[in-house]
Amino acid sequence: MKLDLEIKPETIHVAIVMDGNGRWANERALARLKGHAKGADRVRHIVRASLNMNVTHLTLFAFSTENWKRSESEVIGLMSLFRKFMKSESKKLLINGVKVRFIGDRNRLDKSLIELMNNLEDLTNNNDTLHLTIALNYGGRDEIIRATKKISEKIKSDELELDDITIELFSNNLDTFDLPDPDLVIRTSGEKRTSNFLPWQCAYSEYVFEESNWPDFNKEIYEEILKEFKTRERRYGAVLRQ
Ligand code: FPP
Repeated sequence: MKLDLEIKPETIHVAIVMDGNGRWANERALARLKGHAKGADRVRHIVRASLNMNVTHLTLFAFSTENWKRSESEVIGLMSLFRKFMKSESKKLLINGVKVRFIGDRNRLDKSLIELMNNLEDLTNNNDTLHLTIALNYGGRDEIIRATKKISEKIKSDELELDDITIELFSNNLDTFDLPDPDLVIRTSGEKRTSNFLPWQCAYSEYVFEESNWPDFNKEIYEEILKEFKTRERRYGAVLRQ
């Protein structure tokens, strides 16, 4: 069933902080990695639901620049889950029109993982139905610093002048240069923080803080959130319509 969201303009960009995998596992006396594995299963489910509900852009926070502070076994386990996901899902993503992109700093990632990421981006490059962006080793402040360095280099080499710096130019130097800003950010597990996720891009985004842990998040909850979002009046700093 297709849900007509009637959202203007034609794109709808949902960004999700997939939180609560650890708590979900703890509540069941399972290892944290079991929670992440169930979380990966939810990613498949929510990508499918996004296709069914005509969501055009879905951005998922998979690993933050701060997540390296977790135990070595958890970090290794997460990286292996990402590899597994890319290997097992690539064909399905391709035939369903999903264009996959990664944002974040790739420098600290393992070569074999970077190769899989590049291959999946190349493979799905001509797709246009759903733009799936996975934030991996992503931090908003880190992204802003990297963009600032790129712009500074261009000023140093006289490719740009100081007065050329505008909001648009800055946005074009971020990892998300070719994406619309998120319309809606969902964070699961009841935490009410933004946690360095797309701070520049979410200046005017709507937020929903959902109580379920990510492994319990499903298409019914997602659909309800999108329906409620549709009723919100977005003002972008302007006055309320009379
Ligand atoms: C936060 O839960 C979740 C993460 C840091 C990892 C997100 C990863 C996945 C959902 C796995 C697969 C992803 C892809 C894209 C295939 P948490 O561990 O912080 O939970 P807690 O706050 O309850 O401890």
